[in-house]
Amino acid sequence: MSKLLVTSALPYANGPIHLGHLLEAIQTDVLVRFQKLAGRDAAYVCADDTHGTPIELRARQEGVSPEALIAKVGEGHRRDFKGFEIDFANYGSTNTEANRAVAVEIFEALTKGGHVERRAIDLTYCEKDRRFLPDRFVRGTCPRCGAADQYGDVCEVCKSTYAPTELKEPRCAICGTPPVRRASEHYFFKLRDFQPLLAGIASGTAFPEVDPQVRNFLRGWIDKGLEDWCVSRDGPYFGFRIPGEQDKYFYVWLDAPVGYISNTPDRDSYWRPDADAEIWHVIGKDIIYFHALFWPAMLQGAGYKLPRRILVHGMLNVRGEKMSKSRGRLRTAREYLEIPGLHPEHLRYYFAANLTPEPSDIDLNVEDFRHRVNAELVNNIANFCHRTLSLLRSRFEGRIATAAPGPVWTDALEAFRAAVPAYAAADLKSAVAAIVSACTAGNGFLQERKPWAADPAVAQGDLSLCANLAYAAAVLLSPVTPTMSAEVLRQVGRPGARLADLGLEGRELPGPWIREGRVVEGPPLMPRIEPKAAAALLPEEPAASPAAASPLPRSRGREGRGATPAEVAPHPGPPPQAGEGKAEIPFDAFAALDLRCGVVLAAEPVAGATKLLRLSVDLGEPAPREIASGIAEAFQPAALVGRHVVVVANLAPKTIRGIRSHGMLLAAGEGGKLALVELPAEVPAGTAVR
Ligand code: MSP
Ligand code: ZN
Repeated sequence: MSKLLVTSALPYANGPIHLGHLLEAIQTDVLVRFQKLAGRDAAYVCADDTHGTPIELRARQEGVSPEALIAKVGEGHRRDFKGFEIDFANYGSTNTEANRAVAVEIFEALTKGGHVERRAIDLTYCEKDRRFLPDRFVRGTCPRCGAADQYGDVCEVCKSTYAPTELKEPRCAICGTPPVRRASEHYFFKLRDFQPLLAGIASGTAFPEVDPQVRNFLRGWIDKGLEDWCVSRDGPYFGFRIPGEQDKYFYVWLDAPVGYISNTPDRDSYWRPDADAEIWHVIGKDIIYFHALFWPAMLQGAGYKLPRRILVHGMLNVRGEKMSKSRGRLRTAREYLEIPGLHPEHLRYYFAANLTPEPSDIDLNVEDFRHRVNAELVNNIANFCHRTLSLLRSRFEGRIATAAPGPVWTDALEAFRAAVPAYAAADLKSAVAAIVSACTAGNGFLQERKPWAADPAVAQGDLSLCANLAYAAAVLLSPVTPTMSAEVLRQVGRPGARLADLGLEGRELPGPWIREGRVVEGPPLMPRIEPKAAAALLPEEPAASPAAASPLPRSRGREGRGATPAEVAPHPGPPPQAGEGKAEIPFDAFAALDLRCGVVLAAEPVAGATKLLRLSVDLGEPAPREIASGIAEAFQPAALVGRHVVVVANLAPKTIRGIRSHGMLLAAGEGGKLALVELPAEVPAGTAVR
């Protein structure tokens, strides 16, 4: 069997690993562990995606070099993945000399092949920030479907890609001003040169192989026409400078997938076109275009091996809402690991139990998470193993005897067998279901035969049979729960799981495999999830959300209304007193407010304005916002940094004493006696306040 390289998408180095990234890493890790279990030489390679404007800007904001920022973030990523038992052959970075060399080599090969064109184009430029505004730094209305507030490169609603200049009603995401157009020379990759390959992928006649649903997306895009892809960016940019250019860099999406190649140990043995190897990419459905169109075209154009398979998963949602980095609703990997009573294998199990080869979204419902994991992993699989092994220990000093396989053996083994093709087809949901069903049969058998009370000779035989089933369950579930499985295997004296040891592929049912020996003591296999632990997995519901309740009450004097926006712009009338004197508003007027959690990154006094502070506030957007706030009499600037405040995010920007202010902080009180409306530190920047 040829060797196998599996990758997952390279997480951006501008934020922590969250549960969405983990869905992908766990899926990939389970697939790779299964292949290894089946005896294949398989390697999981990933890296941080370190380039691009957000990283450059964030480093600037934090007053560190981009290199220092990505080093720190990368360390966190590695530690988090380790906490979830993700077993990489290598976890690297795109900011390496090796990656630069391969990126340049591929770019030059494409140029030589006539697939790259240089020409001048009109770009969006912010005169205030004095920079070209790439992709995500222009926001506006999607030119294709009309969805509001979309990025400059791709619409999150209709998924089409376009140039930032095509956006309607564009704004600079850094400062909010409408950008101007300015011409610049750029490099374009002629995607249409690869039309036959791409049409083949979309119709299922060429590799990489993708799910039929993904092929539909591809066909839609191809039918609309393959447009040239701009692969360069103007400085300032954090990335690789294009050879022969002064201030132009490779677009991050050019050198990011190249990171798959440059971070593969012994890379020629996988990536050369004649290599005896298979390559699979695991990605989320938001980046199909890059992986199933651009990337195969680049590889073909530069003479590399094409991936055999692109596995696309859906998005992890919480309460039906898309959780994304910018909305900040997802728990981070770190937060999960710090919740007492949650085991990393709880999450591994839950994700596996929900993953199919289709790109369907997965809803993280904490109650479902708790019930499912408790019912299947803890009370069924782990409990079956635990009951069996502890009864053997307490009644028979752990001694395993030969046992005649009866009907339970047939039932359980037929179920176990089904797990193998399911894993191979990336249908983790069915693989897990098969193991659950086998253990259900085992538990039923124990219930019926009552080996705790039965005649010793019969009981020892029954328990020995069950110990063999526990062994098979541990082997087959080991890709999902490596630690728990290793513990069961240690207790039954068969460490080092291998699928071949089970011999499930033959026509005859195998086993029992363990006919003698002694089961040793061990710690409990898997804790139950308590309601409190599960609840801690979700960000708190916004308390008494008015969105869920009735419109604001008519009468005066309620909580919430005492908060007055703390800006210096003159109030239209006398300063409002707590909840008094304002006309009733329809609910829609309230709902029109975009209130969000903001984290204060920096605060400084404004020369000549005693009441004013200039704040830099993270609202979960690619770049922080500048806000002028009239709270200087009440707060020392340094005391504000790190606070989680409530910001009115959709106020029209306003220039106050020369500062362009993009929002307003909520506070109660006046002058020197001012209390900020604050949120607990666990509410991430960008979370909607309703
Ligand atoms: N850096 C690019 C990928 C470059 S690959 C050459 C990127 N990074 S990312 O950090 O935004 O996302 C990395 C992977 O995590 C993507 O496959 C993406 O689909 C996945 N997920 C990010 N958020 C997710 C969810 N909420 N749910 C499921 N997967 C998600 O894209
Ligand atoms: Zn700007």
